[in-house]
Amino acid sequence: MRIAHLSDLHLLPDGVLRMTSLLGRRLFGAVNLVLLRHRVHSTEVVRAAVDAVAGQDVDHTVITGDLTNLALDEEFDLAREVVDQLGGFTELTVVPGNHDYYAPDAVRARRFERWFGHTLWDRGQPQDEWPAIKDLGTVVLVAVRSATSPPPMCAYGRVGREQGEAAARAVTSARAEGKAAVVLMHHNLHRRGVAAEATGRLLDRELVSDLLGRSGASLVLHGHDHREHEMVITGPGPGPGTPVVGCGSSSVVQSSGLWTGRFNIYDFEDGKVGIERWRYQGREKRFTAQRA
Ligand SMILES: [Fe+2]
Ligand SMILES: [Fe+2]
Repeated sequence: MRIAHLSDLHLLPDGVLRMTSLLGRRLFGAVNLVLLRHRVHSTEVVRAAVDAVAGQDVDHTVITGDLTNLALDEEFDLAREVVDQLGGFTELTVVPGNHDYYAPDAVRARRFERWFGHTLWDRGQPQDEWPAIKDLGTVVLVAVRSATSPPPMCAYGRVGREQGEAAARAVTSARAEGKAAVVLMHHNLHRRGVAAEATGRLLDRELVSDLLGRSGASLVLHGHDHREHEMVITGPGPGPGTPVVGCGSSSVVQSSGLWTGRFNIYDFEDGKVGIERWRYQGREKRFTAQRA
């Protein structure tokens, strides 16, 4: 089983910033976006990531949130168009990021669920049951919602005890059946810089880390931190612990240093997980696999 992991696409259609719907909370974000983000994230880089995944014999693709910036229908429409290119050669699971719940009206209108709920729940199932569980055969995906709609200029997340315990139970039962259990969530479990910790951390990080570590999850995948990160959380037993992997943003245009668009591919074989790391090469305008 090969699973590709993309994150933090932050797709921005042309002209969206001129739209009259940029009011209130969105105005803050839009200004922030113009100043900082628009130069960093590119739709073309995401299209290059999709092309690279298409050539890699991947069974399933997961995207760990922040497909949009302001949670507007126009942004979700572009995101659907870009990731639908994966259809036909890989299945898809998408969890929401804080930007996909950017404003209370987007949450009330269930915009994320309307555009991407089909990747989480079958028709006829309740379309808001978290965690969403997907059994892929040898691997079970446990899709957790960590994104909330926080106050302006904040990006906090929270999983909550009820959802966290349900995710841990799903992991335990998948492991009991001899399957790998992969937890998907948007927010990172590691500590970041002072500003990110102050405004954008997972508020119940300790609880979630403890529950997932104890349950023996095979892998936790996240986004939110636009730079790649890997660590291990340990449970009470002597086992090797649970790898926690953030692939970094998949839409960053190569600018300076090593920061550039990234995605990962995980290979599940004989109870082990191998990681291939892919990076966008700005000069060649394509992703290439990194040598270990
Ligand atoms: Fe993000
Ligand atoms: Fe985020």
